Amino acid sequence: MATYRQVLRILADGERHSGAELAQTLGVSRAAVWKAVRKAETSLGLQIETQRGRGYRLQAPLDLLDSARILEAIEPSQRRHLARIEIHDEIDSTNSHLMRAARGGAAAGTLCLAERQSAGRGRHGRSWVSPYGSNLYLSLLWRFELGPAQLGGLSLAAGTAVAAALSAEGVAEIGLKWPNDILWRGRKLAGLLLELAGEATGPSQVVIGVGVNTRLGAAGTAIDQPWADLDEILGAQGYDRNRLAGRVAARLLGAVARYAQDGLAPFLAEWEARDPYLGAPVELHLGERRIVGRHAGITEQGALRLATTAGVQTFLAGEVSLRPPTGGPR
Ligand code: BTN
Repeated sequence: MATYRQVLRILADGERHSGAELAQTLGVSRAAVWKAVRKAETSLGLQIETQRGRGYRLQAPLDLLDSARILEAIEPSQRRHLARIEIHDEIDSTNSHLMRAARGGAAAGTLCLAERQSAGRGRHGRSWVSPYGSNLYLSLLWRFELGPAQLGGLSLAAGTAVAAALSAEGVAEIGLKWPNDILWRGRKLAGLLLELAGEATGPSQVVIGVGVNTRLGAAGTAIDQPWADLDEILGAQGYDRNRLAGRVAARLLGAVARYAQDGLAPFLAEWEARDPYLGAPVELHLGERRIVGRHAGITEQGALRLATTAGVQTFLAGEVSLRPPTGGPR
């Protein structure tokens, strides 16, 4: 029985392949190939052109995840922090998976990627749109001697790492919006979701989840905020999904190791250089409350400093989201 994954590996080139050729290559019947193609369509939502007697062709080529190619993009200096790479065809959420694995004793430096997430999660309980074979859904497990309270700045350090990886891939004009959004021309290109567990005084374990939009296509209609993807920014041929995954992983590995030594301080200048709202009027949403002020920088704990009419107040990452002001008197 041909698995749909084997068939997809062949169809990924975007060329037409006959049922006979697929059947012969995989050592199965043509009926088994047909079933595998149907499964890829129904369960993964892929569009595969089928023409009687002429074979099958994917509507658009796929650059599927490949651990060897990901590894190639991780410099030896960062590779030593990597424990293993797991690639899943489909998973509920790479973050949920690594949180479970962490409880089972998985090593720091475990990297998990998936072609598709059936229950991808964003911040504030939102879902994260995760269609098959495009975008990046990547999580890294790390263990710290520090307690969770000392890890408040980690999501910002991780944000600078993802921004640097995107910049190395050729994306200019990357913005970092406190605490966790990566923007391109004000639209969301990537997001981070950090999940922490541990003792108050340490040790703690952290899963850093990163979603990068490379190609959202029709799935983008389900997103209720302005977004961008790499197909738009660099063109479909202008980036390499596996190299980008390796670059993100490498920089995250470097960032967690550095953070464990020096905290957020070494990352702050880079954050502030990419923060389009620094010095600008902003609005924080804190439950029902809205707090208006001027963005006055980030503290070494990762908190936002807001200059308000009542003086400078600080807000911890994760508590609130920052937005441009919605207008009206201030
Ligand atoms: C956000 O901006 O709301 C955070 C999005 C984080 C999405 C990534 S995709 C990989 C990892 N697994 C998840 O379920 N979420 C994160």
